[in-house]
Amino acid sequence: MFKQAKWINTGLPTGDVVPEYRRRWQLPEGRPVRAATLRVTALGVYEAALNGQRVGEFVLAPGWTSYDTRLQVQEYDVTGLLSDENLLTCRVGKGWYASPMPGWKDSPDKQRRRVRQTALIAELTVSFEDGGAVVIPTDERWNWVESPVRFSEIYDGEVYDASFAAGEPKPCALFDGPMDCLIPQEGEEIREMERVAAKSVFSTPAGDLLVDFGQEVTGWVEFTVDAHAGDEVRILHGEVLDRDGNFYNENYRSAKAELRYTCREGLQIWHPGLTFFGFRYIKLDAFPGEARPEQFTAVAVYSNLRRTGEVHTGHAGINQLISNIFWGQKGNFLDVPTDCPQRDERLGWTGDAQVFVRAASLNYDVERFFAKWLRDMTADRFPSGGVGSVIPNYLPEDKCSAAWGDAATICPWTIYQTYGDPGILRAQFETMAGWVDYITSATTTPNLWTGGTHFADWLGLDAPSGSYKGSSREDFIASAFYFYSTTLVIKAGRVLGEDVSRFEALREAIARAFRETFADYRTQTEHILAIHFGLAEDIQATADALAALIERDGVQMKTGFVGTPYLLHALSDHGHADLAWTLLLREQYPSWLYPISRGATTIWEHWDGIMEDGGFWSADMNSFNHYAYGSVIDWIYEKAAGIRHDEAHPGFSRAIIAPNPDPRLGWLDVSLETRSGRISSKWVFQGDSVRYDIETAVPAQIVIDGRQYDVAPGVYTFWR
Ligand code: BGC
Repeated sequence: MFKQAKWINTGLPTGDVVPEYRRRWQLPEGRPVRAATLRVTALGVYEAALNGQRVGEFVLAPGWTSYDTRLQVQEYDVTGLLSDENLLTCRVGKGWYASPMPGWKDSPDKQRRRVRQTALIAELTVSFEDGGAVVIPTDERWNWVESPVRFSEIYDGEVYDASFAAGEPKPCALFDGPMDCLIPQEGEEIREMERVAAKSVFSTPAGDLLVDFGQEVTGWVEFTVDAHAGDEVRILHGEVLDRDGNFYNENYRSAKAELRYTCREGLQIWHPGLTFFGFRYIKLDAFPGEARPEQFTAVAVYSNLRRTGEVHTGHAGINQLISNIFWGQKGNFLDVPTDCPQRDERLGWTGDAQVFVRAASLNYDVERFFAKWLRDMTADRFPSGGVGSVIPNYLPEDKCSAAWGDAATICPWTIYQTYGDPGILRAQFETMAGWVDYITSATTTPNLWTGGTHFADWLGLDAPSGSYKGSSREDFIASAFYFYSTTLVIKAGRVLGEDVSRFEALREAIARAFRETFADYRTQTEHILAIHFGLAEDIQATADALAALIERDGVQMKTGFVGTPYLLHALSDHGHADLAWTLLLREQYPSWLYPISRGATTIWEHWDGIMEDGGFWSADMNSFNHYAYGSVIDWIYEKAAGIRHDEAHPGFSRAIIAPNPDPRLGWLDVSLETRSGRISSKWVFQGDSVRYDIETAVPAQIVIDGRQYDVAPGVYTFWR
């Protein structure tokens, strides 16, 4: 990967200060340059500049991977930045590599991160028209200075002193960094993707000065200020206001999420670059002069994903829900699919990722994004084949939980189904099969998964008081997912031409054992899993029983992370589309629309993050940007608009378009940019009739009112 470069760092304890590494050189005279390429990576996060100009658009590079085994190297074309006299600089902050994650119990892994030294490796190659080249590698010829970044860390924020004058450069030390884990860039670049102007600046009843961006974003604030050298700016971040309209950030737990900036003289624009925050509001604890909205912009920072899905409806609440789901994805697809972007967590929770992967893959093109993360999963799985709760694995002491570790099978299968390239199955098959084998070796009862430690139906509304876990039986959920993962291993194996006979036998055995052991279904989630995974002996009767149970429960869901994603599918797939719509359109708590009545601009972790009396669910676990329940958008694409892939034709080379219109919505207009072409489905109620407009670039089976039409690519209108 590098021909001559060596790892370098300061060789001295620099505390929290971010070092800036430097190398000056001159271009030889009379040799016109053909191209210049910079290859670079860091242990930490870096910002490189050539002659004062930022190199590339990748922020928080090199992104987040399982660093012990996989560290991405970036390559930038810097031809346009060269001059005769050159200065290449690179600042390296702690980033994920050395962020100890405050607040979490001490573990050997956390201790290791706390004391890790950041380091840099880079190589600039200038090739000339005459066929020759020079290489500028990191080595003893580099030196370093203290940068104005006096502190930077993922969770706590950044401290920047614009008045700081760098001292004399000191020589760099060679560092014994890893060479065998270097890999080319695999994921999408993280970039500054969108800018949101501040909506207002206001004082709270408690007397604090706040800026409201009107939208929760993940990224950073950019501000403009006219100040004197030494003036201070101090900013805290928050997602919501409390019931009295005051600033609230207790739910960030131990993440300080703070910016401190010391001004230089005059007009200046600044934003941090080696950290990020999840926020809608900022609190100006110190700000020189009067603060006006036009001085503040929220910059949304996330992976450079191409949007592929569009959903528009005749219902204002649902439109806001859709917007919240997209913002939830943007806010949590910052190189790794994370649970949340604000508190002392921001981790690649496997359960959350598998819950949302289908929705994610329809909203945006996430093939590369997931391919990279799944390779980290393979790198970080336990020797037993077990897959942990978070990837990259910051919590190596954690147990393997059902519905979390099953991300190992569900994510690659879903990505394959959406995009059609079996490469992801090939890359992940061993991990998929290994996960099922792990369960087989870990269970205390053959052909079921019993005796494990699980997150259960996490945050289910039927949880006994004081528990985060819904009432569905853990062994039930674990065994159902054991069956489902085995099913996906068989499907993937068949695509790849693998011998899957032992998994076929296992699947039969699990089904038998499951039916003998769990003859009754006690909760909504237990019904849903039995229906959706095809485990119930009589699926229609189970779906009818689920509908009756929901009615008995007051026409409301009681489900958590495990049951919710499949809830509406389980209903509408079996004759209860009307009830599915009722749940989706419900406005009182608990429902998808309730948070919208409370001003939500992203998806909440809890159905009652802000309760009906205006109080908070808790400070302990209350994220207002948790994408998991936003998975409901897959039902809107697949069942409401009815655009589905045909499992036998992955990548939408053939589609099924079977809309489920409901007059309460008025109209729905959905389109998907698939790998095989664009598909759109629109329906509108006109009096007692429904008009359907379907446009498909791929052959499709259209199903209207139970009637099937096999159609070629084209534009079709139906009336009912
Ligand atoms: C995270 C979740 C995650 C869970 C595991 C939480 O702290 O925020 O989204 O899946 O832990 O139960």
